Amino acid sequence: MTARLIDGNALSRHIRAEVAQRAGALKERGMTPGLAVLQVGDNAASRVYVRNKVKACHDHGLHSVLESYPASMTEAELLARVRALNADPAIHGILVQLPLPEHIDAFKVIESIAAAKDVDGFHVASAGTLMIGQPGFRPCTPYGCMKMLAAIGCDPKGKHAVVIGRSNIVGKPMAMLLLQANATVTLCHSATPDLGHHTRQADIVVAAVGKRNVLTADMVKPGAVVIDVGMNRDEHGKLCGDVDFAGVRPVAGWITPVPGGVGPMTITMLLMNTVESAEQHAR
Ligand code: GUN
Repeated sequence: MTARLIDGNALSRHIRAEVAQRAGALKERGMTPGLAVLQVGDNAASRVYVRNKVKACHDHGLHSVLESYPASMTEAELLARVRALNADPAIHGILVQLPLPEHIDAFKVIESIAAAKDVDGFHVASAGTLMIGQPGFRPCTPYGCMKMLAAIGCDPKGKHAVVIGRSNIVGKPMAMLLLQANATVTLCHSATPDLGHHTRQADIVVAAVGKRNVLTADMVKPGAVVIDVGMNRDEHGKLCGDVDFAGVRPVAGWITPVPGGVGPMTITMLLMNTVESAEQHAR
């Protein structure tokens, strides 16, 4: 068997077309969905991410503002900017790019974002709605992974899903979304002994650790769906995920490539969350 590829670029194009159509419908009613992206300091990777987010807004009919501040910005100044954006009727989503400089308390800043504009889904109010199964913003990367499962016709109901990684941004919300979709979920992490014992029983594996070759062929049940959230570099500097792609592909039923898998879905779901936020505000 050779696993079929889950094409994140193709799925993104499909969902982004819907985003553009819904943004256009709002515009006709006099409301352009607006996203504010705040970056503090000069993290090179963050600079690329925020530029891509703003460009994606522009390309799909959303209004966006990029606010870049020097690392010397104080926490009080950043909190004041967030408060101003909370009150700005042209802005429906506020995203503070992480990481923040050490002198700024990221938790305090994220909690200062109005829950109704928390398109990253990082606010405790968003985490809470996810936990109890109420509507709310879902963190973009796990939300995108769920869209990928839906796109291949994989209903998690009754399946055993194993998530590797317990970050607040991916692992924990991913486990909650799969649980909400009626999967039986195992959440593994760096202190899990014998990871393969768990993954070999999985119909769905989501790898979100940030380390190469966390999942190898001997750890995968034949036919399983493998979603790779990792973004790493191999010894030649080439982009790779957490999964040993070449080894796992002959065993799995479906697999996401890196690049071209989960990566493009994250910004796509950010656009979707922003349009949904604007639709809520338009009610
Ligand atoms: N840093 C890395 N990924 C993300 C993300 O999805 N959102 C924010 N705000 N910061 C990040």
